[in-house]
Order: sequence, then C-alpha cells, then structure tokens
Amino acid sequence: MGFEDLKPEVKNILQNENKTVTDRLNTVCQLLKDHIEYYDWVGFYFKNGDKKELKLRTYVGEETEHDIIPFGKGICGQVALSNENFVVPDVNAQDNYIACSFTVKSEIVIPLFKNGENIGQIDIDSETPDPFTEADERFLEYVNLEVAKIL
Ligand code: SME
Repeated sequence: MGFEDLKPEVKNILQNENKTVTDRLNTVCQLLKDHIEYYDWVGFYFKNGDKKELKLRTYVGEETEHDIIPFGKGICGQVALSNENFVVPDVNAQDNYIACSFTVKSEIVIPLFKNGENIGQIDIDSETPDPFTEADERFLEYVNLEVAKIL
C-alpha cells in the first residue's frame, strides 16, 4: 500500500472515537510499520508537561529504554528545539544520536504542531540505509496534521 492509499486509513483510525487517543496513535504506528517495508520502529514522542524533555507515548517495534529524551539530545531532542524535519540517511554519521539498537541504520523525525506550537513528533527508525525521500516527509507531515486534530 502506497502513501496515498494509507492516508484515508490513517484518517479513519484517528477519527475512531470509540478508542482512546493513545490507542489510536498506536494503531497508526502499527499501520505504518506493517505497510511501509523500511519502517521498522514507529513511535510518537510528546513534550512532557512543562519539562524540557520528550516522553514516549506509544510505539511499535523493538523495546526501547529511551522513553524520556531531554531537549537537545539525540535526533528527537534536536527536533524538539529546531521545529524542523530531520532526515538521517546514516545514523552512524551523527554525533548527537541516541542509539536504540545496533540494527538501526537510518531515522526520520517530523515535528508535530498544534496551534503553531511544536508539541511532539513522529519518529521512525529503519534498518535500511538511506531509505527516506521527500515523499516520506510529506506523508508524515500529513499524519501529524491529522493527529493534531484529535489532540
Ligand atoms: N534515535 C533517537 C532516539 C529514539 S529511538 O530512535 C526510539 C534519537 O537519536 O533521538
């Protein structure tokens, strides 16, 4: 299933008010991991209250111990401050990177805005080197826009 076919699926999942928001986010993570072959770990981090740190809300993929990430640390922490997409074709070439698993080769992090404020992000790890294109960025921006509507 390509990005265009996934978009209505994402929308349907997010608009299902019979489930909690976290459950809906988790189902979106699962959908993306199941249908995009180079998405191996998919998760949502959000700003942890008033603290200058991110907290992992839900994810699918290998278990991680990085459920709290201080702003500025790693790819995720940098995006919390920069408000910009961060595409990492080769994680080993990054100095400020938090490794979750040695099998991860690349990563993409897209900030999530609510009323113009950077409140979180979608984070994807891949075991494929350099797989992400602008199509991934546009698709994940769409996902985050839809998520913002239910927060
Ligand atoms: N690699 C991320 C840490 C989170 S894990 O990918 C789940 C980073 O450098 O911020």
